[in-house]
Amino acid sequence: MILERYFENRRTIINNALDRYLESEETYPSKIHKAMRYSIFAGGKRIRPILMIATYEMLVNRRDSRTIQKVLPVACAIEMLHTASLVHDDLPFIDNANERRGKPSCHKKFGNAVAILTGDALITKAFETVLKLRNHKKTLLCLQILLEAASTRGMIGGQVVDITASQKRVKLHVLRDIHLKKTGSLLRAAEQTACVMANASEPITNALRDFALNIGLAYQVIDDILDEVGADELLEKESGEDQRNEKVTYPTLLGIEESKKQALKLIDDANKIIKYMPNNDVLIEILETIRDRIP
Ligand code: IPE
Ligand code: IPE
Ligand code: MG
Ligand code: MG
Ligand code: MG
Repeated sequence: MILERYFENRRTIINNALDRYLESEETYPSKIHKAMRYSIFAGGKRIRPILMIATYEMLVNRRDSRTIQKVLPVACAIEMLHTASLVHDDLPFIDNANERRGKPSCHKKFGNAVAILTGDALITKAFETVLKLRNHKKTLLCLQILLEAASTRGMIGGQVVDITASQKRVKLHVLRDIHLKKTGSLLRAAEQTACVMANASEPITNALRDFALNIGLAYQVIDDILDEVGADELLEKESGEDQRNEKVTYPTLLGIEESKKQALKLIDDANKIIKYMPNNDVLIEILETIRDRIP
């Protein structure tokens, strides 16, 4: 990977910012702060905040660690919302997963009650973190985008249909909608907030929203494939979760090969959207990283 150092550096900046924004483990009541930090720092590729930052840098045509300081509250808020969604997703009443990010999942380590509250606390912390932005108009716009992304019209809505759809006959267009909501919403928020922060034009904002939805769907299709083929190492968790929960997935509806084809096509469509944008090299590399996950 040509831009390996760039990604490593941005990941470190994001992790340091998350460390600043979250309460210390000792802060009373320490149990919840320990659990929040445990889930945030268990690992994680940080693809959403990196995408947000990289898009912002592309749009303002500057690439240095000083430029990105002012968008860190939003980038970290997206990672907090995402981590909250994973903590809740793993609960016994949802996917019942024992591992996450290569470690015992939050409820395995801290118990169900604390895990529920940890997800809640990460969600409220995310919105509190957005308030650290200096520009009030942009703060409101970013809050609006993130609230929509997490809402019953976005991630939470997708998760609800995901659990109620299992064991039922589900058509491909319904599954596509589940994936776009449960996974696409936060990736779309990463693009939209980057556009707000960079004062991007409406056509660029719309194009990047479509770019994100293509990646969002591809990302979840690939996650489904990896779960089906038993790629425990790449997933950093025990695979076979979807089969165990009798989930409807792209592989169950289309088979592995066709699912791979669809993922490739979605990434190709995303590539077409940004192909002629100036300074797009990091976004192209992010697309390649996602494509490389296809087994
Ligand atoms: C896992 O997301 C859940 C999905 C939406 C597929 P990631 O694969 O981005 O997980 P982390 O953040 O790297 O742990
Ligand atoms: C998770 O989808 C989507 C969200 C958490 C919003 P999955 O249930 O497929 O994610 P993994 O496989 O547990 O990471
Ligand atoms: Mg799930
Ligand atoms: Mg799951
Ligand atoms: Mg999965």
